[in-house]
Amino acid sequence: MTPEFISNKKKIFDLWAPSYDWLLPSVFYQTVHKRLLEYVDLPTTANVLDLGCGTGRLLARLADKFPELRGTGLDLSSQMLQVARQKNRHRPRLIYVEGKAESLPFADGQFHAVFNTISFLHYLEPQQVLNEVARVLSPHGRFYLVDTSLKSQAEIPLNLGSLGKVRLYSPQQRENLGVAAGLLCVSHHYLLGPVLLTIFAKPSLPNNES
Ligand SMILES: C[S@@+](CC[C@H](N)C(=O)[O-])C[C@H]1O[C@@H](n2cnc3c(N)ncnc32)[C@H](O)[C@@H]1O
Repeated sequence: MTPEFISNKKKIFDLWAPSYDWLLPSVFYQTVHKRLLEYVDLPTTANVLDLGCGTGRLLARLADKFPELRGTGLDLSSQMLQVARQKNRHRPRLIYVEGKAESLPFADGQFHAVFNTISFLHYLEPQQVLNEVARVLSPHGRFYLVDTSLKSQAEIPLNLGSLGKVRLYSPQQRENLGVAAGLLCVSHHYLLGPVLLTIFAKPSLPNNES
């Protein structure tokens, strides 16, 4: 992974952070979070990770809905995390840490569920991220991947100007990335226009031992 790619993304999101919750796109993100919650199934005392948590809105929503849930938000952008920490009404149940999706600072099997909303398109090494998600999930754990999807089978790199380079994936490409990381695809659900939720599950034993 090129350090320059990551530091450019960090700069972009650091700049966006102070206005992130007030601009029009936040209406879009929050609608997506609301729709996502309709599909979330968690143990009562779940320990969850939100990868690319931004200002922490999804974790706050999860903590409201599941009163015993504990959650960690991880993000590249220190400014996004600053907003998330300032708004954290669920301390100490929710905590926020700085880090990269490609190398998670967590133990194997630590989380019952991992969430990732509108962040996957920014990754230069999507397979590495899926491998890390599979590593930190507990057996039977679930990965909720939400991002704009494409019908086409071709991975499409786009340059979104101020948002930098992004990549969109078809449902089949998501499934392939999941399988290569040892995750099973449970289902796909369109949440809003082309925004697709893919639910993955970690098998109880690695695929080659079951
Ligand atoms: C469009 S925001 C979405 C934030 C939040 N998930 C939401 O639904 O509102 C994308 C977030 O992903 C983070 N991000 C991008 N690339 C990342 C990476 N490689 N590792 C960790 N976070 C990353 C950005 O800093 C930004 O906060």
